[in-house]
Amino acid sequence: MPRYAAITGWGLAVPRRVVTNAELARQMETSDEWIQSRTGIAQRYVASADEPTSMLAAAAGRHALAQAGVLPADVDTVIVATCTPDRPFPATACSVQRLLEIPRAGAFDLAAACSGFVYGLSVGSSLVQSGMSRTLLLIGADIFTHLINWQDRNTSVLFGDGAGAVVLQATEQPLGLLASNVGSWGDGETMMAVDAGGTLLPATPELLAEGRQYVYMNGREIFKHAVRGMCESSERALADAGITLDEIALVVPHQANVRIIEAVAKRLGLPMERCFVNLDRYGNTSAASVPIALSEAAQQGRIVPGDLVLLTAFGGGLTWGSAVIRWGSPTHRG
Ligand code: ACO
Repeated sequence: MPRYAAITGWGLAVPRRVVTNAELARQMETSDEWIQSRTGIAQRYVASADEPTSMLAAAAGRHALAQAGVLPADVDTVIVATCTPDRPFPATACSVQRLLEIPRAGAFDLAAACSGFVYGLSVGSSLVQSGMSRTLLLIGADIFTHLINWQDRNTSVLFGDGAGAVVLQATEQPLGLLASNVGSWGDGETMMAVDAGGTLLPATPELLAEGRQYVYMNGREIFKHAVRGMCESSERALADAGITLDEIALVVPHQANVRIIEAVAKRLGLPMERCFVNLDRYGNTSAASVPIALSEAAQQGRIVPGDLVLLTAFGGGLTWGSAVIRWGSPTHRG
């Protein structure tokens, strides 16, 4: 019998502070009207200095464990998908293991920018399906505003901070990940990046003065690649699962820009009613975006046990990924 990795718990966490478009409009030349009409974003959460990535990740993880009814001692693997870790090392996943008092679990970070959670679901489910893990905590967490130049209106209005988590548990029942497709195109690495602070360009006072520690991006090009990457990987994941889009109850896309989501829906031939959108309140939370949206969709009853759900994401790298999952916990956990 094949083994599956059911999603048995989920949860989310955001920083205390809300920053509205009106507040940004007081700091730079932009407006609520421009941001809402070009992106759909009305507000975002922004982490304070005492809210590192590990803290948000652990808070989301704690909710997911409680939802699953799983004790920290049962968790054998912790994966944190992030491109804004607490430090270059140790892994933020190790800090989460400590904060949640999970004994002995393997813990590592995974970097695939905004596609990180979908990549993590693919890797995490494989570990569970192969028998190497029985109970795995997968978290997508980013404090992307750490990489933001607040003087740059092209990027600063788009992003927010947060974390979302799921618990994966081994089962013989056909639940959780049914098929996934992930991809990358390194030639597009300069379309969106943070240049300074790594081994390629160690941060120097000169580079910091030039603002090279901040994210830059070619918004229009990213937009086009995002639509293509999400559509093509969605079609591949659906084909691998042997499922048609009509059978999908809800699509949970990466929450970067409502116009990107509308373009993906149009190209796939999907009505927007079957697309989950919550970026109006969160902005683009990078690797946290899909698990935050998935958790909210479950909380709101937009997905119920037995439903087929399509997750699709796109991010820096360039990276993309899609996953077909069957929602629900096993009737008998095994
Ligand atoms: N307020 C007011 N005006 C602005 C702002 C702002 N915040 N930002 C840009 N503008 C101006 C521009 O300067 C430009 O002015 P110009 O015509 O005088 O040069 C004008 O608005 C229009 O700019 P466009 O680039 O044409 O705007 P567009 O409709 O393409 O929207 C946006 C820009 C929102 C960035 C869009 O291209 C987009 O969403 N791209 C995808 C970005 C993305 O999702 N990145 C994240 C990827 S996921 C990850 O890895 C984290």
